[in-house]
Amino acid sequence: MSRYSAAERAAVDSRRVERVYSALSRVYDRGFDWALGPGRRQAVSRMAIAPGQRVLEVGVGTGLSLLEYPEQARITGIDISEPMLDQARQRAADLGRNRVELQQMDARDLAFDDDTFDCVLAPYVISVVPEPERVMREIRRVCRPGGKVVIVNHFLSEARVLSLLERVSTPLSQWIGFKLDLPLSTVTEAAGFEIVSIDRVNLLGLWRLIEMRPT
Ligand SMILES: C[S@@+](CC[C@H](N)C(=O)[O-])C[C@H]1O[C@@H](n2cnc3c(N)ncnc32)[C@H](O)[C@@H]1O
Repeated sequence: MSRYSAAERAAVDSRRVERVYSALSRVYDRGFDWALGPGRRQAVSRMAIAPGQRVLEVGVGTGLSLLEYPEQARITGIDISEPMLDQARQRAADLGRNRVELQQMDARDLAFDDDTFDCVLAPYVISVVPEPERVMREIRRVCRPGGKVVIVNHFLSEARVLSLLERVSTPLSQWIGFKLDLPLSTVTEAAGFEIVSIDRVNLLGLWRLIEMRPT
């Protein structure tokens, strides 16, 4: 049995993830955008944001999605890593986006009232955070009933050989900031949502875009 409680392990994991992304902040766009850009763009367009709607992006990173949002939307982006947020702040300034608010915050403990947002987007973050179920509960809490939640992420494959490979590679992938073996059910079975659609996106369809409606 482990000497550490689940909460202590989650705190250690969270600090490690924060360190990894802080270290990657300056190279993140060059390293990852070619693979993750198409799914992110589809995710923003799937939200079909109406003028004046309030949008939360969980794990906003360097703010690559800011390029995609309509001008009139009121965007709040949160991330645990200040260096990632610094890149996002620079991008928001370069784009002249003054309706964007960027805050350092843990997705497991969102500092917003219930039902604050019309739409919540979580691109490539749910397999990065410790306690993804807790993050799903927080997303449900802050999104108003009838709003829109869009998650885009890689999940454990249904193909036997690939899933075996993903499971054995996860200890390594965690050191570069994400788990390869997160089951899709972590998202699709989260309480308080109706699933609208699940689509394959990005290279070889290895990522999923899940649209959900809080009930
Ligand atoms: C793979 S990056 C995705 C960034 C961005 N969403 C994108 O599409 O490029 C994961 C992001 O999640 C952030 N993150 C990790 N754990 C977090 C947490 N507990 N709360 C908020 N953000 C977190 C990381 O700092 C990093 O910026």
